Amino acid sequence: MTAAGVRVSSDWLALREPADAAARAQDLVDVLVRRVPRPTRWVIHDLGCGSGSMGRWLAPQLPGPQHWVLHDRDRDLLDLALAHPPAPAADGADVTVEARDCDVSRLDPRDLAGASLITASALLDILTEEELAALIEVCAEPRSPLLLTLSVVGDVELTPADPLDRRVAAAFDAHQPRMTERGRLLGPDAVALAVEELGRLGVEVLVRPSPWRLDGSHADLTAEWFTGWVGAACEQEVELAADTVRYTRRRLAQAAAEQLAVMVGHADLLVSWGSGPTAV
Ligand SMILES: C[S@@+](CC[C@H](N)C(=O)[O-])C[C@H]1O[C@@H](n2cnc3c(N)ncnc32)[C@H](O)[C@@H]1O
Repeated sequence: MTAAGVRVSSDWLALREPADAAARAQDLVDVLVRRVPRPTRWVIHDLGCGSGSMGRWLAPQLPGPQHWVLHDRDRDLLDLALAHPPAPAADGADVTVEARDCDVSRLDPRDLAGASLITASALLDILTEEELAALIEVCAEPRSPLLLTLSVVGDVELTPADPLDRRVAAAFDAHQPRMTERGRLLGPDAVALAVEELGRLGVEVLVRPSPWRLDGSHADLTAEWFTGWVGAACEQEVELAADTVRYTRRRLAQAAAEQLAVMVGHADLLVSWGSGPTAV
């Protein structure tokens, strides 16, 4: 879970990396590889790269030499990303990385000049409407495909169900699009807004579900996610704090016993410039 201006912990990113890799929509990578003429060398800009999980997931799936330009405003995460670069490309070609310490909502088109692909993962929902619009505008210049994965869409399902789930979910949903010093965060509206903004530019946008499906084998991630989920809900609705003490204890015990399953909805977008305006 992230908040505007709040640093994302490297432990949290490490914990979620395998679940993120399993959740991202594989068929969008297949479409990308099939449709995009293979460049002599990919130049891939990953925006809000964190500790670099997108590169570690995608680079080994793309054939051909690649240079990844990793953008984040968190220098410690960038250093981690540099220390753990992606494996070689699908055909064994070299993959190189460089890091840029920057605010991705204030990029200049020159920063992305020559890009053959732009990616972002778990970023759109923590932007404001203005930041998303600015990002789309700057990404439109190189007209390279965009792969924007793991934006939250607001669906959460816990199994077994508990009568308090709905109330916590409603408070969490209300917390997502909260005001920050930068403006209101998009939260689960990010995907619809991105599709709308991109649609106005007359581009093709493929949208795919990419939910986390956490089961007993993800006990640590489930517990960490649940703690953040309830915490955000209680921040939104303070009376919930007292009402969720026993609920939280019960749910964490279920997670520890590998008896709690969670589905967290996300969506992935693949944007191609130059085709007709469609959202599929
Ligand atoms: C939820 S993390 C996702 C990290 C990584 N993409 C992943 O999937 O593991 C969001 C990342 O975006 C970065 N971030 C958020 N807003 C940013 C901004 N305006 N400029 C640069 N980085 C930003 C944060 O520092 C964080 O590393």
